[in-house]
Amino acid sequence: MSTADLQSRGGISQIVNREFDCVTPENAMKWDAVESARGQYNFREGDILVNNAQQHGQKVRGHTLVWHSQLPHWVSNGHFSAAELRTIMQNHINATAGHFRGKIYAWDVVNEIFNEDGTLRQSVFSSTLGKSFVADAFRYTHAVDPSAKLYINDYNVEGINAKSTAMYNLVKELLASGVPINGVGFQTHLSLGQMHQDLQRNIERFAALGLDVALTEVDIAVHLPVDASKLAQQARDYESVFRACLAVPRCVGVTVWGISDRYSWIIQFSQGNGAPLLFDDNNREKPAYTAVKNLLSGHH
Ligand code: G3I
Repeated sequence: MSTADLQSRGGISQIVNREFDCVTPENAMKWDAVESARGQYNFREGDILVNNAQQHGQKVRGHTLVWHSQLPHWVSNGHFSAAELRTIMQNHINATAGHFRGKIYAWDVVNEIFNEDGTLRQSVFSSTLGKSFVADAFRYTHAVDPSAKLYINDYNVEGINAKSTAMYNLVKELLASGVPINGVGFQTHLSLGQMHQDLQRNIERFAALGLDVALTEVDIAVHLPVDASKLAQQARDYESVFRACLAVPRCVGVTVWGISDRYSWIIQFSQGNGAPLLFDDNNREKPAYTAVKNLLSGHH
């Protein structure tokens, strides 16, 4: 969610505070939002979100400390030496995780570090520091906020495939070397009818390593125009996603990537697609909302 969801989008803040027990900032804690110029920090938007969450007894998932995207140019184009970039990363983590210390349930420490074939994505971090930036980012975050659960987060890792297996192998390696990692986030940006039959098995293999798993950015995009049968399919898809998580005790939560269809990133980024969330453009509950609500009320 964004701070605008709380401040200027009609009934959305009421939905946030009535329906959810954990929230995630969509953009407010990203590097370009908090440190657009070196050493100059701005936590205003993040604070608004965290304060609202605390007032309503909600946990906060912090998103995200080290990511190649929404990274200011001074970092990505800075031509820093390895030692300098490591210090820059550590300073950013110290300031950001330090500012929110004790208020964050879980941090997405690193985000989207893999290519689809499971190789390490090319970024300023990987090309300057090699793979070591990952372990370092976890160590730095743990040192500054030891109570936060620390996650690696990615997309297209919901099924068992080359990318999720690379993630599996990396977290196994990190655990073996004593790196403080607690969880794996599957973003779960899906399209209608694209539910992965092996989602539960995939969650289970990570859980078997002793890690928590969270579905961190769920949405299910519909090819427009929307009709009743697509909404019914979407409801079934949402239900399957939640069922897979509910079936595994170490699957600790499901986060939807926005509240109202009207403000979803899908509208801006994915032409011809939309309506991916639980509430429609006018904040009305969709069939997917009802399906999830019924499923969850049966589990309490
Ligand atoms: O804040 C500026 C504003 O000042 C400016 O006027 C406006 C003009 O375009 O842009 C605003 O920034 C936009 C920002 O969202 C805030 O609305 C960026 O252009 C836009 O690119 C950015 O998109 C975000 C996207 O990440 C960037 O990669 C989406 O809102 C956000 O939902 C999306 O979230 C990501 C997760 O972090 C990681 N996983 C994938 C997911 C979907 O892409």
